[in-house]
Amino acid sequence: MLGSTPYDSLEDRVAIITGASRGIGAEVARQLADQGARVALAARSREDLESVAEQCRQRGGESVVVPTDVTDETACQALVDETIDAFDGIDILVNNAGMTMHARFDEIEDLSIFDHIMQVNYLGTVYCTHKALPHLKERDGLIVGISSLTGKTGVPTRSAYSASKHAMQGFLDSIRVELDEQGVDVSVISPGFVDTNIRSHALGEDGATRGDAPEDTDRNMMSVEECGRRIVRTIRKRKREEVMTLTGKLGQWAKLLAPSWVDAISKKKIGDD
Ligand SMILES: NC(=O)c1ccc[n+]([C@@H]2O[C@H](COP(=O)([O-])OP(=O)(O)OC[C@H]3O[C@@H](n4cnc5c(N)ncnc54)[C@H](OP(=O)(O)O)[C@@H]3O)[C@@H](O)[C@H]2O)c1
Repeated sequence: MLGSTPYDSLEDRVAIITGASRGIGAEVARQLADQGARVALAARSREDLESVAEQCRQRGGESVVVPTDVTDETACQALVDETIDAFDGIDILVNNAGMTMHARFDEIEDLSIFDHIMQVNYLGTVYCTHKALPHLKERDGLIVGISSLTGKTGVPTRSAYSASKHAMQGFLDSIRVELDEQGVDVSVISPGFVDTNIRSHALGEDGATRGDAPEDTDRNMMSVEECGRRIVRTIRKRKREEVMTLTGKLGQWAKLLAPSWVDAISKKKIGDD
């Protein structure tokens, strides 16, 4: 299939959103609810999910809460099963659950950082996609991956995170080709810096949550509302890729011609401290 038909409306479309308890996932859930979608909200913290579900209901969308750890394949199956029980089908899967890090590779003491980040960002996407796919096929559905500009190029102090987002990109690009002609589209969305609490949950050198990331506080960040709008717009268009910042867009071309220049920009933007 060459190109796909955008959604006329998201009214009554059923969407699973992982990592919906806060940040970008919660905002996408609220904005999908604004458009009349029925949303299944997944993350580990039930209480936070309940509060996002209530916000979705107040905006006119139906919602169901399914506490899920996406690193647990059985839990991902339960997420899909409970969504089917509640809404009788799945149109859209938003693989958004994610975590980051802040540590130079040569200073990492506990390599479990790599396991944890890979499990959440990459394997969580694989598990949820695998369980939802039979249902997505029934409805010419859409698989969305919330990746990152670090899924396009390596950046200092985010080696495991960047690797997990490259893995996610490669996985989603591969199944897009497999699913061609089967009605299911795949969107990979790569935000730049977004103003959420992701940095306070970042893992540090010792594998524990850092609790802060002062070097990120004065960055020019996109608001979570703007990020949510762009994600929902990409969903409506069923667009294959959305790279959110101008630097990110230009960087993809620049990497072909002057990769060292892209490395220098990545060092300047992220720093290696
Ligand atoms: N913020 C940015 O600057 C930025 C930039 C580019 C890409 N992104 C990507 O956008 C996505 C959302 O990030 P965010 O900024 O909104 O982060 P956030 O505010 O920290 O939210 C992360 C979400 O993921 C969930 N989560 C974490 N581990 C999980 C697990 N094992 N199972 C299920 N859910 C889990 C969290 O809920 P629980 O803790 O309740 O499980 C939370 O809902 C991530 O994939 C991130 O990589 C963010």
